[in-house]
Amino acid sequence: MATPVTKAVFPVAGLGTRFLPATKASPKEMLPLVDKPLIQYVIEEAISSGIEEVIIVTGRGKRAIEDHFDISYELEDLLRQKGKRKLLAEVQKISNMMNICYVRQKEPNGLGHAILCTKNLVKNEPFAVLLGDDIIDSDVPALKQMLDIYNTYSASIIAVQEVDRSQVSNYGIIEATPIGDRVYKISDMVEKPGMEEAPSNLAIIGRYILTPGIIDLLEKTNPGSGKEIQLTDALKKLVKVSPVYGYKFKGTRYDAGDKLGFLKATVEFALKNKEFGKKFREYLKTLKL
Ligand code: G1P
Repeated sequence: MATPVTKAVFPVAGLGTRFLPATKASPKEMLPLVDKPLIQYVIEEAISSGIEEVIIVTGRGKRAIEDHFDISYELEDLLRQKGKRKLLAEVQKISNMMNICYVRQKEPNGLGHAILCTKNLVKNEPFAVLLGDDIIDSDVPALKQMLDIYNTYSASIIAVQEVDRSQVSNYGIIEATPIGDRVYKISDMVEKPGMEEAPSNLAIIGRYILTPGIIDLLEKTNPGSGKEIQLTDALKKLVKVSPVYGYKFKGTRYDAGDKLGFLKATVEFALKNKEFGKKFREYLKTLKL
């Protein structure tokens, strides 16, 4: 039986340059998608997939994330006094969600380096990695779908999606053979290739289930694309020694770290909102597009 995956790592130390100037002084993970910050969506996805321990890799200027998941005594007291019970419950739910460990990534040396910073916390266990830029709207949480595949194969699983050829240079791209429904056996991968060198149009999306061997490989990985230590480069080595599978998840993924992707997610999530979705739809209809 596959070793259960109970831990999830959330790297949030990135600088958010794609979203400047909004992210000059505030973390991009705190950008609100309708009424919740991006990071809350991904943490909720992990919890509803059965994850029990959250490890956030944080960095300079990211304190707002820690505060968001902490108890806010003054705010709770004020809401209690004003009889705003629904809001109080909402705010308390966030701090009660689960215990969170924070690790500090002292310098933004890349996704691979961020994961390496969690070495003493993930120990010798498989773990999940979720990137806050990738918001996935699906009936079954994307990570849950991947854990089901992990339980079948007992191996590392990477979320993938077909992208337009013109977009391959924004992603890690896999070389793979389809072996089952939505499942691919990966033989190689490359981080942010040019259109000509890309082995396929199957892009890595920010959800991974990794077997513990990845940590040793990350330690031996030199800076790659963007002069950063890339997770893709360590995974490329992992593929040579153990099976790694790509899984084409069911759901819609938004690149919320990109201005246009964020706007698309905002509109779609607002339309689905129970409280004002209908009114928002009516408003959109009045726009002369
Ligand atoms: C990271 C990974 C890349 C992956 C992408 C998915 O890149 O390095 O392989 O395709 O996330 O969002 P980033 O977008 O952080 O540059």
